[in-house]
Amino acid sequence: MAELLLALDVKGREEAARVALACEGELDAIKIGYPLVLSTGLGIVKELAKANIPIIADFKVADIPNTNALICEEVFAAGCSGIITHAFCGSDSLLAIVDGAHDHGGSAFVVCEMSHPGALDFLSGANAERMAKMAKESGADGIIAPATRPDRTAVLRSVIGGSMKIYSPGVGAQGAQPEDVKKYVDGIIVGRAIYESADPGKAAHEFRVRAL
Ligand code: XMP
Repeated sequence: MAELLLALDVKGREEAARVALACEGELDAIKIGYPLVLSTGLGIVKELAKANIPIIADFKVADIPNTNALICEEVFAAGCSGIITHAFCGSDSLLAIVDGAHDHGGSAFVVCEMSHPGALDFLSGANAERMAKMAKESGADGIIAPATRPDRTAVLRSVIGGSMKIYSPGVGAQGAQPEDVKKYVDGIIVGRAIYESADPGKAAHEFRVRAL
């Protein structure tokens, strides 16, 4: 059984509120990223928090340790409960995110293999497995692995073991189905197939049921 995370990549407060309200009761978490935050500001987190589910900041952080720690301060002060980071900047940068999240009572999730075709250029294969190992050693709470390549997500599950979470994007618009990946992961991440739907609440309900 996998949870359902909405990737709320819409622009503006009104659109975010419309989709979040339509999906009320169907979601386990909302993932926000640059499209929404750059169009509204981080204050959007407090508004979305009314839904009473975790808000995860998908900022795919990739910087030096000091900057990463400063980013964590802002993200968690805004009310987020999780942050997504890259690992390729090295173990010290990764640890700054993990410690920054934990110091603020939050969680850290590490991108290992991405879901889009271009991931095969770099963010896949042995690099992904190395980053999954780094994620485990850093004390991170989970990793991000692709629903579009369930065989690879199964490999990454074997690298990290059962105690860390895997959240998996690529379901819906990128072509993967919940059934492809749900046995390997703790949650599927769905964006456009919900928020661009004529009835986002119905679409979310259907994905939630299929992820069970
Ligand atoms: P769609 O509309 O394709 O949105 O359902 C997917 C969401 O997930 C993000 N995304 C990723 N995030 N690693 C990540 O950390 C990935 O491999 C990955 N693939 C997609 C994307 O930014 C969007 O919010």
